[in-house]
Amino acid sequence: MIKFAVFASGRGSNFSALVQSARRGTLKARIALLVCDNPDALVIRRAAAAGVPAVIVRREDFAGRAAFEDALISTLERHAVDAIVLAGFMRLLSPRFVARYKNRIINIHPALLPAFKGAHAIKDAFDYGVKVTGVTVHFVDEKTDHGPIILQESVAVAARDTLATLEKKIHKLEHRLYPRALGLFAGGRLKVRGRRVIIGLRA
Ligand code: GRF
Repeated sequence: MIKFAVFASGRGSNFSALVQSARRGTLKARIALLVCDNPDALVIRRAAAAGVPAVIVRREDFAGRAAFEDALISTLERHAVDAIVLAGFMRLLSPRFVARYKNRIINIHPALLPAFKGAHAIKDAFDYGVKVTGVTVHFVDEKTDHGPIILQESVAVAARDTLATLEKKIHKLEHRLYPRALGLFAGGRLKVRGRRVIIGLRA
């Protein structure tokens, strides 16, 4: 079975949703490892509770980004990981790292890309006054929030929505969409053709 490493820096609700889907068997893959750059993150406690090994790699412990990423790579190799799942990982990965795992790094973004890139997408969309926003799951390329799109789904913004209620709706959708997208990847059903991701039939 394909082995994923989840990279996360904070709360880890997507991490937990993926672990649960894998446990239930709705996601036919193993969440083999958590890689976290923040020793105080809640996601580390979630991994411990779920029995998933966690490795903490702090950027501050390395002289430069290349050395930090070399440490990430040796961790991934040690655990024989097939692909990387970004779930609230707050560090940018270099083109060298991305090239090494070409089309094997997947990210989730809480807006309909290419709208509202960046770290505050839900608030940015809410403040802009959009009537529709959503969630995007995409392959990672060398530009931030840019790679080929695997799945997207929309969320309506109701007149009575506050930022808090919108965040809740977005996260609920993320927890459903991410396992689905990773299941397609794990099942070998995704082909990347330029910017387009073609979803093939079940093998
Ligand atoms: C999610 O909204 C995800 O889309 C974004 O970071 C957030 C992580 O949330 N990339 P959590 O840590 O999984 O709860």
